Amino acid sequence: MARDTRWQEPKDENTKAGYGRFLRPKTPYEIFMEEQEIPIYRGIGVRRVQDLPLKPWKRIGGNGTFIQLFGTEDLWGCYLVEVPGSGALERERHVYEEIYLVVEGRGTTEVWVDENRKKITFEWQRGSLFSIPLNAWHRIINATSSSALLLAGTTAPPILNLIADPRFVFNCPYHFEDRFNLADDYYRYNDVVEPDPVRGLAMRRTNIIPDIINCNLPLDNRRSPGTRRIEPHMTGNKFYLFVEEHETGRYTKAHAHKSAAVLICLRGKGYTYTWPYTLGITPWKDGIGGEVKRQDYEPVGMVSAAPMGGNWFHQHFGVSREPLRLTGWFGPVAPWSLFQDLALQVAGPPTTRYRGNLAAQNRRTGEELIDFTGIDLKDGGSAIPYREEDPFIRQEFEAALRREGIASRMDESFFR
Ligand SMILES: [Fe+2]
Repeated sequence: MARDTRWQEPKDENTKAGYGRFLRPKTPYEIFMEEQEIPIYRGIGVRRVQDLPLKPWKRIGGNGTFIQLFGTEDLWGCYLVEVPGSGALERERHVYEEIYLVVEGRGTTEVWVDENRKKITFEWQRGSLFSIPLNAWHRIINATSSSALLLAGTTAPPILNLIADPRFVFNCPYHFEDRFNLADDYYRYNDVVEPDPVRGLAMRRTNIIPDIINCNLPLDNRRSPGTRRIEPHMTGNKFYLFVEEHETGRYTKAHAHKSAAVLICLRGKGYTYTWPYTLGITPWKDGIGGEVKRQDYEPVGMVSAAPMGGNWFHQHFGVSREPLRLTGWFGPVAPWSLFQDLALQVAGPPTTRYRGNLAAQNRRTGEELIDFTGIDLKDGGSAIPYREEDPFIRQEFEAALRREGIASRMDESFFR
């Protein structure tokens, strides 16, 4: 819509300055994406990234598409790139973090700082997860005659939105020595499990995992009994991620928090329900089940757990014979910040209404934080206990399992 470019001062005390209603402007990162002239896929998720249309990507070489799932817009970037058979992508460096998951194919990556010093080369294959150190040069090379497909996660949106000048972001000479030391074993897989320094969860400090589809995962048990999980800490990144596996025949409780987390299906198949907390905890029973969003996925599909800014309940269901393995990508968003400043007031009929049960945790350094998402609503958390959830959830899950010939392991006692 056309706007008058001349300043309009309010005529009297009863009129307010400004338009009142306006369109959200494009961010520098959104403008950058458009300038790449490749598709930008937007949605709550995608069943299989392999099915997304790609277009030639001049700057990078190969073919690509951006994937900007709802809720991640300002937080982190994602794209899919196809490396032609026997080909390579253009070399690049950038002052944002970048991790790659290999969807299909086999090849090598070269990483270096200075043309006159050594290059470090490592191999990858389907299921490899690796990280490029901040601002290091890198070049991705396809080792076979068929094409390779890589899914990348980046911290490009916050960086480009603050700096707003791609010439700086792609041409900065600074070497981040604390992140990249050029040691020969820099890309050797380190499978040692340590407690992560903040929450004490299982962590591996490694710049590559050769096969996240099959690597072993230590027992975690937090989301449901039998859940296995690891947090890879890669190339000194702020980009947070985990790899998690759920047992067959069980699903986890729904919980709510802010946006950032995207789940990427690595093995098995399943679906996610996600709905705003304003719909309450039993939307199907209350006749508003049509407003709940559902994303089905198989390898390699994706879903934004809490789209539209968040405070959305979400619940994930594996319905395959093999366990559902996922990797969760958050960008540079600490997982505990997803429940900071969160004060849920769950609407709905009186029986299913929670009002202000969640005390907002704030941002004071050193304040003790608890994992809200693992605590039931009545105890001040954001999880819906099985016995209070919408009965449709269990019925549908067990029907889906029956179709696959799998027995439910949702014990009756969980619902008491
Ligand atoms: Fe979540």
